[in-house]
Amino acid sequence: MFITSLCYFFLLIILNKSYCEEFNLYGDAGQAYALEINVGHPEQKLSVLVDTGSTTLAIASYARKDSNKYFRSENSTTLNNSGKEVQAKYSQGTWVGHLASDLVKFSSLKSVPEVRCDIALITKSHKFFMNGSGWQGLLGLAYLPVGAWGENVVVGSWLDSVEKNLNKPMSFQLKLCGVQSLTNATHYGKFEMFDDSMTSSKSGVIYRTPILRKRWYEIGVLAVRISTPLNESTNTSLKSFESNRTINDSADNHYRETCIKLNEEKSIVDSGTTNIRLPDMVFREVVNELRSAAQTSNMLILDEFWYHGEAACWPEPQEWSLPSIAIDLLSTDADNQYFTLEIPPQNFMRVVTARNNSGEGGTVSEFCYKLGLEAGGKETVLGYTAMEGLQVLFNRSAGWIGWQPSNCGPKARITGPHNYSMSLTLLCELTKPVPDVAVSIKAAQWTLCAISIIAAAVLIYLLAPCIKMFLVRPLPRSQQISLSQAALVEQEAS
Ligand SMILES: *[C@@H]1O[C@H](CO)[C@@H](O)[C@H](O)[C@H]1NC(C)=O
Ligand SMILES: *[C@@H]1O[C@H](CO)[C@@H](O)[C@H](O)[C@H]1NC(C)=O
Ligand SMILES: *[C@@H]1O[C@H](CO)[C@@H](O)[C@H](O)[C@H]1NC(C)=O
Ligand SMILES: *[C@@H]1O[C@H](CO)[C@@H](O)[C@H](O)[C@H]1NC(C)=O
Ligand SMILES: *[C@@H]1O[C@H](CO)[C@@H](O)[C@H](O)[C@H]1NC(C)=O
Ligand SMILES: *[C@@H]1O[C@H](CO)[C@@H](O)[C@H](O)[C@H]1NC(C)=O
Ligand SMILES: *[C@@H]1O[C@H](CO)[C@@H](O)[C@H](O)[C@H]1NC(C)=O
Ligand SMILES: *[C@@H]1O[C@H](CO)[C@@H](O)[C@H](O)[C@H]1NC(C)=O
Ligand SMILES: *[C@@H]1O[C@H](CO)[C@@H](O)[C@H](O)[C@H]1NC(C)=O
Ligand SMILES: *[C@@H]1O[C@H](CO)[C@@H](O)[C@H](O)[C@H]1NC(C)=O
Ligand SMILES: *[C@@H]1O[C@H](CO)[C@@H](O)[C@H](O)[C@H]1NC(C)=O
Repeated sequence: MFITSLCYFFLLIILNKSYCEEFNLYGDAGQAYALEINVGHPEQKLSVLVDTGSTTLAIASYARKDSNKYFRSENSTTLNNSGKEVQAKYSQGTWVGHLASDLVKFSSLKSVPEVRCDIALITKSHKFFMNGSGWQGLLGLAYLPVGAWGENVVVGSWLDSVEKNLNKPMSFQLKLCGVQSLTNATHYGKFEMFDDSMTSSKSGVIYRTPILRKRWYEIGVLAVRISTPLNESTNTSLKSFESNRTINDSADNHYRETCIKLNEEKSIVDSGTTNIRLPDMVFREVVNELRSAAQTSNMLILDEFWYHGEAACWPEPQEWSLPSIAIDLLSTDADNQYFTLEIPPQNFMRVVTARNNSGEGGTVSEFCYKLGLEAGGKETVLGYTAMEGLQVLFNRSAGWIGWQPSNCGPKARITGPHNYSMSLTLLCELTKPVPDVAVSIKAAQWTLCAISIIAAAVLIYLLAPCIKMFLVRPLPRSQQISLSQAALVEQEAS
């Protein structure tokens, strides 16, 4: 008996070890997932966020107030600095820097050679690096139109350089696993690259959604709604959309209205954003339902949590008995088909602080959560909250994104394919050509964004005293700040 348990013990350790070593992505609560990068010769090790919401590899090349970890360009013998100025704006934060090129390698990606690629050396930034962030740059994985911008400069992407070097198309996959234990908010994941010519037909069903425009990863998000908890039948909420129906009845009209709203501007998959960002109308609907589901199961959570991005804290970790959020995505197989991601509450009730101090010192245990949903004007952003517990394969050459359940993280599910009675591209006006947004409109959007950030800050400031009374525990300040959202405000190379 003893020997058997000893065996199990060692087996567990071995399994645990090999399992842990698999990860090459990690991040702190609320921050996206970072990958270790080696830049230049001699190699300098840094961490960059994997960001499908932008295109450029950009790294800090100056010491900041809170971190002196950065790329020392003078130490690299292989650097070629063009000196040309480039810049980028994100939905949160901006930077200015110089365009250079150098040798870049990722030691965790065995199949990818060291390549020379364009790098933006950041020399100045505003609200871009977060206080004490564990990363020093971004690895942009999207398409050229959303790269960094400079006069008469095209900033190439690392992915393009790799494909050019290997002379074949490559796909990449993000497997984001979320937190590994209830008492530690650090999250883990794995970034992998696949050779498209080698992996002709990977086993297992992959649900595929087409990339509608190659700038960001723009896809067709048809609905975001409440699904019944995983344990109960999903039958009821889906049934009205599964069967062959005409769009004349009111449920279908509502479906149509919602999916037009969701895609009015664009819907993107962005690993550099924390939350699922929805148009106001859809956000209200989903959150109202979540809130009443919480009320019916006697969970007392304040409206500040649901509607204002405030954290809610408890002295012990929470098990959620809330419904899942269902996200319908257009399928590549047919114009009238879609599949559904079911995102469980472990994803969208995000852990922001996990501290277990029972019995030790004077400090108390504290487990804090924030809602992984936010309202944000017209666009839909599937941040990494919608990707945890799933394996997401970005097949750039074939133009689709494949979704699969994963062996780690929250128990997210995928159902489908479901048939609709007519073309979803028509129903949701997905084919409607999106005219390139004019520069002045872009500037206006940018201002709007800044204003809303300021407004939110003022609101939080004003509410702060009362919130502290409502919440079980006041929070450290850093957790109150709104977190990494690296969705790019579009730049046009002129
Ligand atoms: C960079 O070079 C300076 C001298 O030029 C040296 O003092 C420093 O240790 C080097 N830093 C790294 C990270 O190699
Ligand atoms: C550096 O870049 C310039 C302009 O892109 C190019 O002409 C030159 O050959 C490069 N030098 C090296 C050593 O790669
Ligand atoms: C940044 O972090 C430092 C040390 O961790 C802290 O002293 C400082 O107050 C923080 N700044 C902000 C704006 O949170
Ligand atoms: C969480 O885990 C990471 C790595 O496993 C560790 O470095 C970190 O200190 C842990 N955090 C806490 C609060 O225990
Ligand atoms: C990407 O799609 C192409 C065409 O469908 C396929 O041949 C290739 O195997 C795919 N790549 C991966 C990694 O699945
Ligand atoms: C669903 O809940 C019941 C009890 O309510 C439990 O017995 C059953 O194992 C659960 N099923 C799953 C799949 O979790
Ligand atoms: C599923 O739906 C069908 C008809 O829509 C119904 O007859 C059946 O009872 C439902 N199953 C469950 C488990 O609710
Ligand atoms: C589905 O719709 C098609 C055409 O609209 C119709 O011919 C067919 O009978 C419908 N099937 C069912 C099961 O209602
Ligand atoms: C929808 O149904 C109503 C009656 O329920 C009918 O008057 C109307 O013409 C229908 N509209 C369409 C477009 O079929
Ligand atoms: C917290 O720590 C105490 C004792 O240190 C332990 O009994 C308890 O299980 C821990 N809680 C969690 C959720 O790990
Ligand atoms: C959906 O439609 C396809 C053909 O477009 C058909 O082969 C398939 O059986 C249908 N699935 C369901 C569940 O009706």
